[in-house]
Amino acid sequence: MCGIVAYLGPREAYPILIKGLHRLEYRGYDSAGVALLNGGLSVFKTKGRVSDLENFARNENLHATIGIAHTRWATHGEPNSINAHPHYSQSKKLAIIHNGIIENYAVLKKALINRGYHFQSDTDTEVLVNLIEDIQINEKVELEEAVRIALNQVTGAYAMVLLSEDDPDLLIAARKGSPMVIGIGKDEFFVASDATPLVEYTKSVIYLSEEDVAVMRRGEQIHLKNIKNQEKNPYVQALEMDINKLEKGGYEHFMLKEIFEQPSSIRDSMRGRLHAEKGIVSLGGLVDYEQKIAHAKRIIIVACGTSWHAGLVGEYLIEDLARIPVEVEYASEFRYRNPIITEEDVVIAISQSGETADTLAAIALAKEKGATILGICNVVGSSIARVTDAGSYTHAGPEIGVASTKAFTAQVTVLILLALRLAQIRATIPVSRWMELLHELNAIPEKVDKALQCHDQVKKIADEFKDVRNFLYLGRGYNFPVALEGALKLKEISYIHAEGYPAAEMKHGPIALIDKDMPVVFVAPNTGIYDKVVSNIQEVKARNGKVIAIVTEGDETVRKMADYVVEIPATEEMFVSLLATIPLQKLAYHMAILRGCNVDQPRNLAKSVTVE
Ligand code: G6P
Repeated sequence: MCGIVAYLGPREAYPILIKGLHRLEYRGYDSAGVALLNGGLSVFKTKGRVSDLENFARNENLHATIGIAHTRWATHGEPNSINAHPHYSQSKKLAIIHNGIIENYAVLKKALINRGYHFQSDTDTEVLVNLIEDIQINEKVELEEAVRIALNQVTGAYAMVLLSEDDPDLLIAARKGSPMVIGIGKDEFFVASDATPLVEYTKSVIYLSEEDVAVMRRGEQIHLKNIKNQEKNPYVQALEMDINKLEKGGYEHFMLKEIFEQPSSIRDSMRGRLHAEKGIVSLGGLVDYEQKIAHAKRIIIVACGTSWHAGLVGEYLIEDLARIPVEVEYASEFRYRNPIITEEDVVIAISQSGETADTLAAIALAKEKGATILGICNVVGSSIARVTDAGSYTHAGPEIGVASTKAFTAQVTVLILLALRLAQIRATIPVSRWMELLHELNAIPEKVDKALQCHDQVKKIADEFKDVRNFLYLGRGYNFPVALEGALKLKEISYIHAEGYPAAEMKHGPIALIDKDMPVVFVAPNTGIYDKVVSNIQEVKARNGKVIAIVTEGDETVRKMADYVVEIPATEEMFVSLLATIPLQKLAYHMAILRGCNVDQPRNLAKSVTVE
């Protein structure tokens, strides 16, 4: 979703801002803009990509040492250059960029119109900048104070940065509900939605907390307070991020790079946590809460999208291994359905970005009811990581491709570790079996590497099916969430309609769709209720459906029935999702490439969904 970058310091701001916007492209956007202060305040913005903005501004005077820039993902008003950010205030002396939604913007706008304000755009953001200007003029206060007063009047979410023509050495940033990080350099400040635009300039960062207002003035230390006017001490942290991981490293797309990174990202998720030889599983961040989780009446997992699919795998794992009841909820449904939550419940929020608005709201609700809240996040220092009582990072490294791949397998890995640890505490499985599982888990990265060798095979399948309009993905047990995830990947990046279903449910509806033109992907490794899946495959073949099957190496039964098979190494049933997902990620990737789609930034999607 919207991306924010701002700079104040001795360097040329424009190249830093543009590079920062490119780094944030993965979040998803539809227009881009920049405001620079050099004598006057100039705004350049356009619909389309950051490269379109660069072309648009090519012949302008772009020299400045202070500026703000933005990629917009439309919420209020269609994606066009007028609605793009930055937005001027009415006097054109202020310019603002904003991420989030001002929920009471209509009321505020009406009041401002009555006071003589005219609006150029349909956005809530233009309302905010005019509100700030109106307060500054009428209450005769400093800009910083006007921002603070204005933010007390808005409801909703914001991460915003403001520039003023009258004060060319000043940047004001504030956040509530939308992420924002400030990089501190030598006599310079960087502001961004996440750390990716700043990592090459500084490793000293401040993550703004809810309702913080940061005032950055050339030649001075950063000044922090909250919107209640309480002074705060800036907490400067060291950023742990490897710049090389933000580049494509020779791959054509981030998604492909991230798919291939999985042997190492899964290994990183287990590093220091799994010692198979010594029989140790420990999740450092959760140590203080282990007993609480092990004796919880119920675990509720809340998440969205791919993270929700990982949550489903988590449900199977925790119930299977540790025998604790688990419910998996879409965060967006959970937050609005008056759920029953007690102090004996443990809520686990799973999120790659750690910024998903619905997941954050679900956490807030569960917190209010007294539940213990844990997080499984990928982005270090993200909002979810900070509002939970404790948690475990997935350590998959930055995921740039909008369609989640390595974050999913890392989430599943952490859930496996958690389930194993809980099983140990609760003594729900024999020690010998537990040790067997530890050894098998240790071998998984190598097996993922092997599963990745299906490249050419999957490419051929993609070539065969690239023009179809529908796909069905079926699986049972641990393979059901894999089927859901496979279908999601395909629709996200190739825009082919795909449905994931529990294989046995096919008889209750989807079977009506099956004919010679309907490809059905069966996630059918030889684990669990394999025989039943074989029967489901027969049902599809009897109706002339085309079967693509993900099978265990050496499988002969399904091979005879299926039109195409892709093999994965044999493993324990509870780890199979880590392997079976790989060919499905690749299938989606190749289909999208063959259809000419933008794999890393699919239309309409955002990496970090910071609005509900
Ligand atoms: C968006 C992304 C998905 C992701 C979902 C949840 O829809 O495009 O890839 O699974 O949000 O995001 P989270 O960051 O909370 O895992």
